Amino acid sequence: MSADEKTFPRDFTFGVATSAYQVEGGIENDWAEWERAGRLKEPHTRCGRAVDHWNRYEEDYGLAVDVGASAFRVSLEWARIEPERGRFDGAALEAYRERLLRMKARGLRPVVTLHHFTHPTWFHRETPWHTPASVDAFRAYVRACAPLLKGLEALLISLNEPMVVLLGGYLQGLLPPGFADGPKTMAALENMVRAHVAAREELQAVLGRVELGISQNMLCFTPDRWWHPLDHAAVRLGAHAYNHAFHEALVTGKLRVTMPGLASTRAEIPQARGSCEFIGVNYYSRAHLRFLPRYPFLAFQFRDRLGRGLTDIGWEDYPEGFGEILRETKRYGLPVWVTENGIDDRGGQRRPHFLHRHLEQVLAARAQGVDVRGYLYWSLLDNFEWLEGWGPRFGLYHVDFDTLERRPTPACAYFRAVAQGRRLIAPEALEAQPSAAR
Ligand code: FCB
Repeated sequence: MSADEKTFPRDFTFGVATSAYQVEGGIENDWAEWERAGRLKEPHTRCGRAVDHWNRYEEDYGLAVDVGASAFRVSLEWARIEPERGRFDGAALEAYRERLLRMKARGLRPVVTLHHFTHPTWFHRETPWHTPASVDAFRAYVRACAPLLKGLEALLISLNEPMVVLLGGYLQGLLPPGFADGPKTMAALENMVRAHVAAREELQAVLGRVELGISQNMLCFTPDRWWHPLDHAAVRLGAHAYNHAFHEALVTGKLRVTMPGLASTRAEIPQARGSCEFIGVNYYSRAHLRFLPRYPFLAFQFRDRLGRGLTDIGWEDYPEGFGEILRETKRYGLPVWVTENGIDDRGGQRRPHFLHRHLEQVLAARAQGVDVRGYLYWSLLDNFEWLEGWGPRFGLYHVDFDTLERRPTPACAYFRAVAQGRRLIAPEALEAQPSAAR
């Protein structure tokens, strides 16, 4: 890598990412119901007060500033804002406005997600995603939120990882609302694309010009058996459906998914054409796909074929795949934001190396013409990791879940050195100058 390829330009954004339910605490929504129904891997686990970010937001903005971040990704919790259908809670809207203004005053650009996995409890009963009423419901919610975003120049994300919501919640039945139904999944997919368009209309009506996109979970798919043509076909179709179909619809207005035997659809949604300003990438790992001769026809596995050791959750640490994914986004001809990338690392020792090798891929992709504008690390803090509960630790800051005390992990000094120095250095280089490692 040449010297230039080690440098991040001044306008490149380093930031951190969170989501409301995982950090705020005290939220009653579909996930709280799901937990009470014993649907997590550890059935007695609850999110509860999470890590109390709702009350400790000032402290947490300070922690982000301390690691050199200039952007902070949060989500608005629909269930706080519209606890009953059609009744909007002015105090909740005001509280979010106050928090976003404080964030901005601290020099952190707000990155605001409108929907990050969770729903008010009425949503699945009254307007689930596979019904057209879901689009109107989301539109009404976004209309209520739009005024609180005025003057913030926030980067806006309508939906976080819609394919995860759809595959987990509508096809596999693992996440709320727990359906396992191909046609419902495809109807819900189409409605989520339409909901994004509706959100865009509402936001533009109040804010004028917007910088809006979605965050897409993108996996680097590879055939489990390199010699098996059907594993290759599974990768081709699976990667298109999972990684690209949603963004493709937002760019071209054409929605296409082909997963034979599981779920397929084709729809023209002309209003969706050109409906995002950037491509949001959440990258974590590589997955091996295998064709199965019977339902569900596909199996996917994280493997450690390179002998690097899986992460605590059991994901492969595969930075090369991040580079591949970033290069694939070139097809859209739009700026790219890495809206999440991170590692669950209980001991905290692997994280600086993870960051180094993933940021290296960002620089390489930029050198190859991918317009990556920013990198948001998942996550600022250890937090509640959905079905996995309290086990995984993704935080730059370690959180003691009893006392809620936040303590820097070794990655804080590394992140700060790169974000402030604008140069990619090896973690060892930092360890050699102890004064830098506060
Ligand atoms: C992503 C989610 C985020 C977090 C990370 C680890 O899929 O968007 O909320 O759970 O995974």
